[in-house]
Amino acid sequence: MTTVENPTPSATEVTSAAASGASATDRFHADKSPYDAVKDTPAERVDLLAGEVLSALHDTIRRHRVTYDEYNALKAWLIAVGQDGEWPLFLDVWLEHAVEDVATDHRAGNKGSIEGPYYVPGSPDLGAKGTIPMRDGEQGTPLVWRGRITDTDGGPLQGRVELWHADNDGFYSQFAPGIPEWNLRGSFSTGADGTFEITTIRPAPYQIPTDGSCGKLIAAAGWHAWRPAHLHVKVSAPGHELLTAQLYFPGDEHNDDDIASAVKPELILEPQIEPDGTQSVAYDFALDPERI
Ligand code: DHB
Ligand code: FE
Repeated sequence: MTTVENPTPSATEVTSAAASGASATDRFHADKSPYDAVKDTPAERVDLLAGEVLSALHDTIRRHRVTYDEYNALKAWLIAVGQDGEWPLFLDVWLEHAVEDVATDHRAGNKGSIEGPYYVPGSPDLGAKGTIPMRDGEQGTPLVWRGRITDTDGGPLQGRVELWHADNDGFYSQFAPGIPEWNLRGSFSTGADGTFEITTIRPAPYQIPTDGSCGKLIAAAGWHAWRPAHLHVKVSAPGHELLTAQLYFPGDEHNDDDIASAVKPELILEPQIEPDGTQSVAYDFALDPERI
């Protein structure tokens, strides 16, 4: 890419890996300590998991005769991932999908998808029907989403949909510079009938930052950095399991090769084009009862 021919920086150039990686790392540490929930884990479980991961690595080293040069490059790269603040990105892209599969495979209702690194709690509450905060002239195709929160028998639930997503350039507010704090982030609380109606814009496909250590791995391995366009949601109702999911759009070229492996067929929306060029979509959520 030449900066002379392309003076307008793209999303990934403006959002440096260092900037968005550091924001994601700070955000992760800002919440309560992740160690609290596992403080009673017995040594046997730590031994089992850490031991198996290490032997899987030993197997790979022996099978493929990994050299000292390759080992030292790995060492340098692992150190750099931390220096770039890119561990949240790395883990959410290449590991979280397997954890999410395990966490939700018992559900009769919606199973969900990964959270990713860009959730921020506390977005403005807009009631059951509203427009997500956006800038004057926000770019992107307007989208009206009508849906309902139910239990697994189809009964309505009074609950909440928290929605966050990238803008038309693939930027997330609070992780890219110059975007209002709660842009394209909002919470929608339903009444007893469980229905909501959200007005927003369609997000753009998103490329994970390519100028840091994760980008280096992607380039070295000949992969691509794209996630298909997606809406993130957390759907909740008292007495029910929290659902974290992403919704996708039909025809996106990366639905089949998402770098984060987070697309499931049941999460692809079917938007309708209205006469005025805006789009509308229906998508409901069924929540499983909380397990005691
Ligand atoms: C990443 C970004 C996302 O928007 C997402 O949904 C998942 C992962 C990432 O950059 O790691
Ligand atoms: Fe995302």
